[in-house]
Amino acid sequence: MEQSLEQSAAWLKDARHVVVLTGAGISAESGIPTFRDAMEGYWSKYDPEELATPEAFERNPELVSRWYDERRQKVLGCEPNAGHRALAELESYLTARGAEFVILTQNVDGLHVRAGSQNVVEVHGSLLRWRSTRSGMESTELPMPLPSHPYPAPDGGLWRPGVVWFGENLPEEAVERAHAAILQCDVFISVGTSGLVYPAAGWPAAAKRSGAATIEINRDVTPLSPMFDLVIRGSAGQLLPALVRKVEQP
Ligand code: OAD
Repeated sequence: MEQSLEQSAAWLKDARHVVVLTGAGISAESGIPTFRDAMEGYWSKYDPEELATPEAFERNPELVSRWYDERRQKVLGCEPNAGHRALAELESYLTARGAEFVILTQNVDGLHVRAGSQNVVEVHGSLLRWRSTRSGMESTELPMPLPSHPYPAPDGGLWRPGVVWFGENLPEEAVERAHAAILQCDVFISVGTSGLVYPAAGWPAAAKRSGAATIEINRDVTPLSPMFDLVIRGSAGQLLPALVRKVEQP
């Protein structure tokens, strides 16, 4: 593992364009449950499809609004962990040396931004930014908890969470930024994602086709593990700070 960290650090030191793809695994050590793990207690009787689709919100806006408002409160009660902070530090170190650095995250918890990362593309949206069903106006300032479920927006619509639901397209701008970054990147690191959900699951292979060195950091084996140039097994909260220390060594 030591050797893999050394090799990854060497690639990063030479890189001009770095892309880091993150998933639920990077937030696990902050105590954020993955979507399915979050379906506990009162919520265990529901399927994700009953809560995370546009049809669910049309059918039962009270239930869906309440569920996402609870998740928003939970997430704001959690803190970024050492893995998030290490990526923020890596960005600041590499960009100060003229490299470009972007995080593509599938997480909707906002923890990369709270850890200080600047260039973050939230490809599945954010639990912290809600938008009106009528005009698409957005807000990150809604009262917590919401005073009613659903909560009316000033334009006559209803506030819905700004996350991508099953059956919805990813935000176009986010996908364009992701594709542009992948085309250019020379190092691509995948952290804490199972590699099961597209389009993000296709990005490591796309980065490889672009000529990037590819690295996977994950606690477990994933279906994509065999295609990476380097696989480093372990927790993101331990491995990322160790990697950044090596990059910063003269
Ligand atoms: P998953 O829950 O599918 O995968 C999390 C991955 O992180 C797994 O491979 C774990 O082994 C790994 N892992 C867990 N703890 C870790 C740790 N401390 N350090 C390193 N790795 C760890 O989550 P995602 O891949 O993010 O989509 O799932 C992708 C998408 O599927 C989500 O964004 C969501 C879901 O359906 C939408 O809601 C649209």
